[in-house]
Amino acid sequence: MDKILVRGGRPLSGDIVIGGAKNASLPLMTAGMLTDARLTLTNVPRLADIATMSALISQHGVAVEVRGGTVGGNDGRTLSIGGAISNTEAPYDIVRKMRASILVLGPLLARVGEARVSLPGGCAIGTRPIDLHLKGLEQMGAEIALDGGYVNAKAPRGLHGATIVLPFASVGATENILMAATLADGQTVLANAAREPEIGDLVACLIAMGARIEGAGTDRLTIEGVKRLHAATHEIVADRIETATFACAAAIAGGSVRLLGGRLEHLGAVVSTLAQAGVEITQDGDALAVRRLNGLHGVDAMTEPYPGFPTDAQAQFMAVMAVAEGASMLTENIFENRFMHVPELTRMGANINVHGSSAIVRGVLRLSGAQVMATDLRASVSLILAGLAAQGETTVNRVYHLDRGYEAVERKLAAVGADIERVAG
Ligand code: UD1
Repeated sequence: MDKILVRGGRPLSGDIVIGGAKNASLPLMTAGMLTDARLTLTNVPRLADIATMSALISQHGVAVEVRGGTVGGNDGRTLSIGGAISNTEAPYDIVRKMRASILVLGPLLARVGEARVSLPGGCAIGTRPIDLHLKGLEQMGAEIALDGGYVNAKAPRGLHGATIVLPFASVGATENILMAATLADGQTVLANAAREPEIGDLVACLIAMGARIEGAGTDRLTIEGVKRLHAATHEIVADRIETATFACAAAIAGGSVRLLGGRLEHLGAVVSTLAQAGVEITQDGDALAVRRLNGLHGVDAMTEPYPGFPTDAQAQFMAVMAVAEGASMLTENIFENRFMHVPELTRMGANINVHGSSAIVRGVLRLSGAQVMATDLRASVSLILAGLAAQGETTVNRVYHLDRGYEAVERKLAAVGADIERVAG
């Protein structure tokens, strides 16, 4: 298995290209299953999760063609998705690799009236049930039974519109219900919907495909079902979590970087939180300029649905806080058990204590390089960030987690001056 080696102590300077968002690409790929016509997605990142989703969609009978794109470049790949659905089962072997596989459920039900999807089960960052997806689809007329680890769903007479109030603004449940509602009979109102920019991207693409949706960007989506959707071309929005990650890289290593394609309005609370910590982020044309001012200061943050501080940037920000002056309290409100990076950061010399869903981080003068590994995507990248500030060499093992969600992270960081390389395992 590949490893990443980082030797710390070099400030960053230069440009980093921000790729298309993984978490926008995955639901948009399943949106391609809503029609026989071709959906063309541009600016799709080259990631293991995208390959997994391609495999899943292909085995449903829908063709996925991939074109172009240089690794880490600004010419992301183009995916062309379309065709008849010949198989309605999403098997355990693929679903277990990636929770977002559950996003085929809504499109399958809406398009062909049946689906059999393996339950995703628990994962490293918590139990993550799918009850809200299932309840919403049931309200739209789906008959759902759980059997042998699978969700068996049927809508023999098709789905119908409904008023659905989510008790929690789940990103995945919003996406599944939204996609299903585009082809349902009548009007669906989805209240307390998630407002993440990836959902805005999905809404924009569905509208381009002929869906009738109002309320984009708000927590109340109104969808008038249509008989069919048509072909469209859509460019995937820039990845706000990759953007936040490289902003944290500049924060911890020092220096200044320009994040090409990054969008300030999609960063939510990341901007004010980093500003309080001593890092300035400003929009500069098509790029974001990120600059560490003087020292870093401890700041409290708690994860919340968008536009609050994202759970997907909590580990990266914790690495920054590990070397800030003073203490900070980071509270994780979205997932239980999302502090797996803490013991690894501690091995690098960080002073962090976890109390329930909060971590108290007392900044230290310096971290020291160590052998570390992580059990999820964002935790892995937080260890690379810590390595940028550590004295000596850090080896990050189990890089396959990283490859699920970051394209060429080592090349992008090396290009702005970091001493980092990938070693084939
Ligand atoms: C998405 C993102 C993930 C991010 C998360 C929160 C994708 C592919 N993944 O995941 O990177 O960390 O949003 O921003 O976009 N929940 C339930 N029942 C449900 C659904 C969710 O209890 O039916 C709970 C989950 O266990 C979790 C919380 O709600 O505690 C958030 O989940 P959700 O917003 O659905 O996240 P995902 O869509 O899985």
